[in-house]
Amino acid sequence: METLGTFAHLAEEIAREAGEMLLAKRPARPEVLATKSSPTDVVTALDKASEELIRARLKAVRPDDAILGEEGGSTGDGRVRWIVDPIDGTVNFLYGLPDWAVSIAVEVDGEVVAGVVNVVPRGEVFTAARGEGAWLSGERLRCNTGVPLNRALIATGFGYETGRRRVQAEVLAHVVPRVRDIRRAGSAAADLCSVAAGRVDGYYERGPQVWDYAAGGLIATEAGARLGGLNGGPASPELTLCAAPGLFEELHDLLAPLDPERDA
Ligand code: IPD
Repeated sequence: METLGTFAHLAEEIAREAGEMLLAKRPARPEVLATKSSPTDVVTALDKASEELIRARLKAVRPDDAILGEEGGSTGDGRVRWIVDPIDGTVNFLYGLPDWAVSIAVEVDGEVVAGVVNVVPRGEVFTAARGEGAWLSGERLRCNTGVPLNRALIATGFGYETGRRRVQAEVLAHVVPRVRDIRRAGSAAADLCSVAAGRVDGYYERGPQVWDYAAGGLIATEAGARLGGLNGGPASPELTLCAAPGLFEELHDLLAPLDPERDA
């Protein structure tokens, strides 16, 4: 019988191995292998190699589990599903910027129970198991609390599709004057870990996919943050929002009426 710790441990072991492979094999100037939803949505050979490594390791020890990966899609249909982003922050990876991560979450019966985000260039491996806290290098993480919106440092991200970006830019124009400042690090998984570690006060984005936020979302909630979407709904590609209770609601109430596509 598996425990949450077993899942978290295996996810961490595999995320570390993928990170080591990526560091060892990353050329000085990685090349774009293909583009996906738009010319700015890129994939490198190492995104694929990382996902292949993770899938091979999982298949060897957990052959009955389902896997959802950013590059390889959905396979299997077990009660246990591994949600994998082999490189979150591929554009940073391409340019040699330090915010890219291997992200692995474990879901049981539709609930995320363990998550690991290995921010490889920074040597930081964030881990969480549901109900057991979020951790970085043996230190328990706690998000910032009691920060009002007008003093909040907020992380956000942008999708790759042009129409979505236009909406995100319009929303951002309303957010910037109402908060302390904005950060755009380039990895949603790392952004959520930054909420957990108190390096930013909150995060929002319209358009991230579940592999971008599943592991980081658990890490942030285990550090005391609230994770959700529009109008009490769960985090989703429509809106993913994360901050301590109080700031979460303030940010939600600012964002909810702003999205012109919300009622489309
Ligand atoms: C992207 C990053 C980025 C976020 C995008 C994601 P990828 O993931 O997390 O920060 O703004 O929405 O698609 O494509 O680098 O794995």
